[in-house]
Amino acid sequence: MITLMDERDLARWLRADVRTGFTATPKRLPPKWFYDARGSALFEEITRLPEYYPTRTERAVLAEHAAEIARITEVKTLVELGSGSSEKTRLLLDALTARGTLGGFVPLDVSADALGDAVTVLGESYPGLTVTGVVGDFSRHLRHLPDGDSRMVAFLGGTIGNLTPRERSAFLAALRSTLHEGEWLLLGAGLVKDPAIEVPAYDDAAGVTAEFNRNVLRVINRELGAAFDPYAFDHVALWAPGPEWIEMRLRSRVAQRVAIPGLGMTVDFAAGEEIRTEVSAKFRRGGITAELAAAGFEVYRWWNDPQEWFGLTLARAVRP
Ligand code: SAH
Ligand code: AVI
Repeated sequence: MITLMDERDLARWLRADVRTGFTATPKRLPPKWFYDARGSALFEEITRLPEYYPTRTERAVLAEHAAEIARITEVKTLVELGSGSSEKTRLLLDALTARGTLGGFVPLDVSADALGDAVTVLGESYPGLTVTGVVGDFSRHLRHLPDGDSRMVAFLGGTIGNLTPRERSAFLAALRSTLHEGEWLLLGAGLVKDPAIEVPAYDDAAGVTAEFNRNVLRVINRELGAAFDPYAFDHVALWAPGPEWIEMRLRSRVAQRVAIPGLGMTVDFAAGEEIRTEVSAKFRRGGITAELAAAGFEVYRWWNDPQEWFGLTLARAVRP
């Protein structure tokens, strides 16, 4: 395992994000803080919910086209950003191993808990593969990825949609500058669809997503000694038609003042006041092509499921 950040870095970045987010109007928190061990386990539970279409839809598209992806790219190294359990990634690992080109797998995740489990299990499943887990932040650490000349970077699950448009273009530019011309990006992204499908995917009947959302308050309690009562906040998921994203929010049920000793501050919430905890943007094919082109990637292949709920783009780094 390579660790690009330690506990002190994490604590420093969390303090900065919470201070900035809670002094902003409206209040906001970045989604990467959901994923401690409990948050990562809740996300895995979300992926199995009947309402949550992204995981099973992307898996179906990957299953259908993994062999073709392996044949086209024939890469020696697969890098995965925000890899989590890397469960779907097995389809790519199987296809690339069968092709006989793959030597290494480099999953990168901010969650050491999720990554540690995945690396152990994958190491056992793929004894011939060098699996190098990287604990890092894909918005900060791309330049530290192992160098190579035949790599594919997989960014799956629609996690690109959890970046704001500004973060997204910075991310894609940074990714392009870490790759050599001809190397590959495999990008999974949720597509724009009926909000009647989209909203329940983020507000499931069993309440798992609500717990996932509230988990960020538990992380702040543990790490910064704060006194949030997670159940003093309602889970909100809404479709924002302008930016075409789902927004998750936590809405304060009452007027309350919460102490955050780790920051030496208190935060006031009016009754009904909301914290934006995540955006999950959905995309159109043309928009993805344009954003990739602006960053120096050329779309080579596009696949989607028959309902057009999820798209998988294979793109190539080209001369800027
Ligand atoms: N790729 C998996 C997991 C998606 S969940 C799938 O498709 O199912 C999002 C993952 O990204 C989590 O494991 C989370 O810990 C990780 N993550 C979120 N923000 C991150 C960041 N800034 N840098 C690195 N990993 C991040
Ligand atoms: C990780 N990411 C793509 C998920 C999503 O769908 O935006 C996170 C998630 N948030 C709520 N449910 C799942």
